[in-house]
Amino acid sequence: MDRDSEQVRETWNRLAQDWKQQVGEDGDSNRRLNSDPILWKFVGNVQGLRVLDAGCGTGYLARKLAAQGAIVTAVDIAEQMIEIAAQSANEANQTIDFRVEDCAQLSSLEAASFDRIVSNYVLMDVPDLEATVRAFSRVLKPDGIAVLVFSHPCFPQGEAATIDEATLYTWKFPYFERHKCVEPPWGHFTSEFIWFHRPLSDYWKTFKDAGFTIVDLEEPRIVEERFHLAETEGQLQNSKTRPYSIAFKLQKVASQSTSH
Ligand SMILES: C[S@@+](CC[C@H](N)C(=O)[O-])C[C@H]1O[C@@H](n2cnc3c(N)ncnc32)[C@H](O)[C@@H]1O
Repeated sequence: MDRDSEQVRETWNRLAQDWKQQVGEDGDSNRRLNSDPILWKFVGNVQGLRVLDAGCGTGYLARKLAAQGAIVTAVDIAEQMIEIAAQSANEANQTIDFRVEDCAQLSSLEAASFDRIVSNYVLMDVPDLEATVRAFSRVLKPDGIAVLVFSHPCFPQGEAATIDEATLYTWKFPYFERHKCVEPPWGHFTSEFIWFHRPLSDYWKTFKDAGFTIVDLEEPRIVEERFHLAETEGQLQNSKTRPYSIAFKLQKVASQSTSH
């Protein structure tokens, strides 16, 4: 494992207990209010389908997929995450195949073996975007669907502030350059985060080069029917105005080779 991947693994092992608290059984407020409805719309009916949750964390999504009848494999680079996720699934009497795996390799997973991949707020955290997306393409069946939700690279929330009616985003490095970012702990977290900025066009080119076409694209935001789920006025306002994430629905082009 290279140095960045090792650092990512250690970071998320340190964050695992705090992450469990962050997302709980249903996801954090951003997921519940904004991105999960889009994720589920893009994933569609999973009954009986083989689904990979890539970068599952403490596994709230893997458990929901299993509850909807999917045959779920869930992987994460951090063994502490997998330990917590496996224990929670066990307590819920759910059968999920949890594995410690680097998404850039997925070496224990067979080529062309999944109908769907979901990867929820993971791509900005992986050191090697290209290898990760190629691995996703390799393990998907021809015509398989990948639903990739990640922090919006144009609007870094860690440096965002609302002053009067305006939302301000701060860039401490050039947007067009890839950049490894270290973010201090926020909220209840006790350890720093590491993530990797890439401009939006790099994501699209990487998806295309790995043999994907874009079926749908959304910048998730709260819809009126969900306003009542916001716990505070500030949360509602942020959900209405801040593009926290971007969500891609990709399809693996059927003729794509699965041997790379
Ligand atoms: C922001 S958390 C999201 C977790 C989960 N998907 C969720 O929505 O709660 C990012 C997760 O990606 C995992 N991760 C980061 N890089 C990874 C890699 N190269 N391979 C597998 N998992 C990775 C981290 O360990 C962490 O659990």
